Amino acid sequence: MSERTALITGASAGLGLEFAEQLAAQGYNLFLIARRAERLEQIAADLRSRFAVTVNTCSADLADPQAPDDIALAVSNAGVSIDYLVNNAGSAGPDLLEDRDWSEQQAFLQLMMLSVAQLCHLFIPGMRERGFGRVINVSSVAARIAQAGGCNYGPTKTYLVALSEELALTLKGTGVNVSALCPGFTHTDFHEVAGMSEMKASTPRLLWYSADVVVREGLRACERGKPVYISGRLYRLLDPFLQSVWTRKLTRL
Ligand SMILES: NC(=O)c1ccc[n+]([C@@H]2O[C@H](COP(=O)([O-])OP(=O)(O)OC[C@H]3O[C@@H](n4cnc5c(N)ncnc54)[C@H](OP(=O)(O)O)[C@@H]3O)[C@@H](O)[C@H]2O)c1
Repeated sequence: MSERTALITGASAGLGLEFAEQLAAQGYNLFLIARRAERLEQIAADLRSRFAVTVNTCSADLADPQAPDDIALAVSNAGVSIDYLVNNAGSAGPDLLEDRDWSEQQAFLQLMMLSVAQLCHLFIPGMRERGFGRVINVSSVAARIAQAGGCNYGPTKTYLVALSEELALTLKGTGVNVSALCPGFTHTDFHEVAGMSEMKASTPRLLWYSADVVVREGLRACERGKPVYISGRLYRLLDPFLQSVWTRKLTRL
């Protein structure tokens, strides 16, 4: 088992770092991706010493269309194959209507959707050939209901749910499981990076989950072959309401 390798994007903080720790604890070797090379190296050294696994790092900006090919080349140069893919890197992004720089919008779409599709395109065929693979695309509860706000974050996460469901159907019976993981509010750097610390401070504490719980639930859901998994008991209770036609009608009012 220990010769299996997990590739995790956005592994320098938050949920990605937690995925790295929990998969290393399961004996997976790691291939860690993010922009902050030095931080990745520190994390890699720590994980190697704590879990006795092989950890490779690759600094890449997934908003750059060249990044997935560069990552695939780094993986091939390291002589490993990817058995577990966690598409986790992401940010809140620009406001579609207010922020006027289109290149910034395009970079956001590249990071949130195209890079995920391309990493699936690059790594899933090998998993299918070998008869084993696990893929988690980190989506969000924001994918489950439209909200006013002018941003494009929720729609990019809705794409990840749709992509994961189709891939899961396509890969049924091949040994490759694909899951969209939909967390609600989670304690990570996400809100500070997006300049949303005040919003975080004013949101009720019961809506917030730890990265540990989100990742543990996500790994278990993927193992069980669930194509979409809402993480956090409270959000699982709320989800049927978010999905109902009546809630959608109400939000329009
Ligand atoms: N926290 C929440 O409440 C929440 C809820 C639902 C869904 N999510 C989703 O969970 C995922 C992880 O977010 P998080 O909460 O763990 O946030 P975080 O603590 O801010 O971590 C984000 C990670 O993504 C990486 N990243 C950002 N932009 C990147 C780029 N252009 N290229 C490569 N890596 C990039 C960052 O690394 P570098 O800065 O080093 O590149 C970092 O490792 C995201 O997809 C987010 O949308 C979060």
